[in-house]
Amino acid sequence: MTAATHAQFPDRYAAIVIGGGAGIGAATARLLAARGVQVTVVDRDVAAAEDVAGEIRTAGGDAHSAHADVTDEPALRGVFAAAVGRNQTVHAVINSAGIQGPLGRRSHDVEIDEFERTLAINLTPGLTIARVAIPHFLERGYGRIVHVASIAGKEGNPNMIGYSASKAGLIGLVKSQGKEYSQDGITVNAVAPAVIRTPFLDSQPQEVVDYMLQKIPMGRTGTLTEVAEMLAFIASPAASFTTGFTFDLSGGRATY
Ligand SMILES: NC(=O)c1ccc[n+]([C@@H]2O[C@H](COP(=O)([O-])OP(=O)(O)OC[C@H]3O[C@@H](n4cnc5c(N)ncnc54)[C@H](O)[C@@H]3O)[C@@H](O)[C@H]2O)c1
Repeated sequence: MTAATHAQFPDRYAAIVIGGGAGIGAATARLLAARGVQVTVVDRDVAAAEDVAGEIRTAGGDAHSAHADVTDEPALRGVFAAAVGRNQTVHAVINSAGIQGPLGRRSHDVEIDEFERTLAINLTPGLTIARVAIPHFLERGYGRIVHVASIAGKEGNPNMIGYSASKAGLIGLVKSQGKEYSQDGITVNAVAPAVIRTPFLDSQPQEVVDYMLQKIPMGRTGTLTEVAEMLAFIASPAASFTTGFTFDLSGGRATY
């Protein structure tokens, strides 16, 4: 059976995809552009972002690339300003930037600074992005923010303390922020994928991958298309009665 397409977008709908240079972010940028969305692909690896944007343009889509680290508020403001300068109204921000942080060690062997660095990249941008995007959205009475959290944030993977804590924090942040803007036409949500086949996964130790796979009732990894479809839907006008929520993408591992 071929997958049906769901998310529909009006003309001149614009989205910023942070961490769009690879993996889940790149797949989402491609899918949104294929649905007619004007996409800005943002990454700290600007060459990767430009590759994705160039590929989208070659396929007939509307895409620009931008260099920004998700922790850099002035740079993110610059990305917004550039989109507005192109006469775009930014409707949605998808944040897929993330790092694994310290792996394979229990908490007593993890340094405070490597833990804090993981929070700085995976969690604090939930606030930074809100500070940049929400004033823009409030002016228009419409906006979508979607973060890529993780099943690790719901369930807590051992020996990934920075990652699990940062993603749990992001899930909590989304709950709070979603409620704050619930009267303003703005939704703030997240997705919590289990194992998805990407370069990120390929860089994980095999025992970590095996641990995660054996917990998935469907017994397989998720696909980039499955994640991108859900992100595109949450970023679309159709996802209008859900905020503060973390959508599951775990093949049955988390049924909450
Ligand atoms: N792949 C999985 O199995 C999986 C599962 C659950 C959650 N996630 C989450 O999904 C998100 C994307 O993961 P992926 O598998 O696509 O990873 P990936 O490594 O393939 O892509 C991540 C992209 O984000 C960019 N990035 C990293 N740090 C950044 C920063 N500080 N500022 C700007 N850009 C930055 C990277 O350059 C890269 O282009 C991450 O937040 C990850 O935690 C992934």
